[in-house]
Amino acid sequence: MARRVFATLGLLVACASAQAQGAADGAALFVAHCQACHQPGAVGAPGIAPPLVGNIGRHAASEEGRRYLLRVALTGMVGSITVDGVRYTGNMPSFATLSDTELAAVLRHVLGSYEKVAELGWLTPDQLAIARQAGGSPNETHKMRGRLPAGG
Ligand code: HEC
Repeated sequence: MARRVFATLGLLVACASAQAQGAADGAALFVAHCQACHQPGAVGAPGIAPPLVGNIGRHAASEEGRRYLLRVALTGMVGSITVDGVRYTGNMPSFATLSDTELAAVLRHVLGSYEKVAELGWLTPDQLAIARQAGGSPNETHKMRGRLPAGG
């Protein structure tokens, strides 16, 4: 009996530390937190949310663009944007309640799997922690988007 209890405890500790070490599943996080608005495959839906596929990958090429991608997930965004000639006026919610590890995993999933961005060495929990410290508002993030080298 005592052995069974210890075995179960051991398993629980193993699971908890796997999570703490960053075993977050970006695909599952996308389904749970993003897909309702951005749609399966992140193709977007007019009137709801812009496509991420065929859209955000270009920002991974510049320092400012990378900072924007980390920020928009943390602060969310207000104010209208136009993507492929379609205007979106809804709000992107803040996902600051997700951990740095989870945010890194979901962004890596979108950029790596959907946008085929090969160089994702910059997209780490540490960088999300730095972006989190820097703070910012949804409105400032919208302004930041307007100033991006690859266009807003
Ligand atoms: C409630 C709906 C909703 C959910 C859920 C949502 N988004 Fe958004 N997202 C939006 C809207 C609306 C915009 C455009 C905001 C604007 O016009 O200012 C947006 C914008 C974005 C952008 C910027 C796109 C661009 O062209 O610059 C990124 C990146 C993004 N979302 C990623 C995510 C990720 C990752 C998740 C899940 C963790 C997520 N979103 C969940 C509605 C949503």
